[in-house]
Amino acid sequence: MKNLLSIESLSRDEILAVLADTAAMKSSRGHHASHPLRHQCWALIFSKSSTRTRVSFEVGIRELGGDPMFLAAADIQLGRGEPIKDTARVMGLMLHGAVIRTFAQKDVEDFAEFSGIPTINALTDEEHPCQILADLFTIRESRGSLDGLKVAFIGDGDCNVSRSWIWAAARLGFELVIAAPKKYQPCPELLARAGGSIHVTDDIHEAAKGSHVLYTDVWVSMGKEEEAAYRLAQLAGYQINALLCAASPGALVMHCLPAYRGKEIDDATFEAHADTIFRQAENRLHTQKALMALLLDARRAM
Ligand code: CP
Ligand code: NVA
Repeated sequence: MKNLLSIESLSRDEILAVLADTAAMKSSRGHHASHPLRHQCWALIFSKSSTRTRVSFEVGIRELGGDPMFLAAADIQLGRGEPIKDTARVMGLMLHGAVIRTFAQKDVEDFAEFSGIPTINALTDEEHPCQILADLFTIRESRGSLDGLKVAFIGDGDCNVSRSWIWAAARLGFELVIAAPKKYQPCPELLARAGGSIHVTDDIHEAAKGSHVLYTDVWVSMGKEEEAAYRLAQLAGYQINALLCAASPGALVMHCLPAYRGKEIDDATFEAHADTIFRQAENRLHTQKALMALLLDARRAM
């Protein structure tokens, strides 16, 4: 694994390797035996807002001995139209790694190709792989294993987070049910390409029944703000609340955050499951540290 561009591009073993190393990274926080990013500078190039991803990468890079450099895309020449491949070629000559949050998946892929340095997708319109690695770790931590897992994704079933869930389910072989109105369901071509045990429905109660995890994300992803009013109306029935939780007693309720209470989740349900939800956020730090160390290992072995 030279880069993390998507969950789609990972194998089952690569996902499991990140999860295994995360446990060690988490338990040794504050007293790591090695600092694999020592003398390295990693850039965070962000074209979209972020709290968790930015903070967890900045802290994680420092804790592994490196220096993070935050670059808002609008502040560098990229924001004035310099091609990504030229930006990448310059950065590849000076930096040791890059974490990129942007719109087009191809921009992250081009950056990886033209920079030659370890490149991590920190969210594109297509995928949010770092989030799903942390979520899988959180589920395993809570349940003890991913065996026999059934996840229900409720809401905008065609967003970056749900797409990364699709690929995680395909690679690891667990059951995923996506409950979304027709317009916000993943396209059949994607589902056919992914294979695995993935079902799509517009019935949230059917999806929730027997699920171990009820998962949701915002109804209006970054970049979709112009569609906000329409999306809120279309997705109005797709909320995680007490009634839905009653369909799967004991299920973990998860949210990648930021959360909009009264929209994709109601306040009481959010607060009742805050321990899990904020542990997801915390685990971003540990999974991403494990990931960066693994990317460097893979390159050293080449
Ligand atoms: N979940 C997540 O990626 O949060 P941020 O947008 O705050 O980074
Ligand atoms: N789907 C959301 C995820 C935020 C972390 C978005 O793209 O805005």
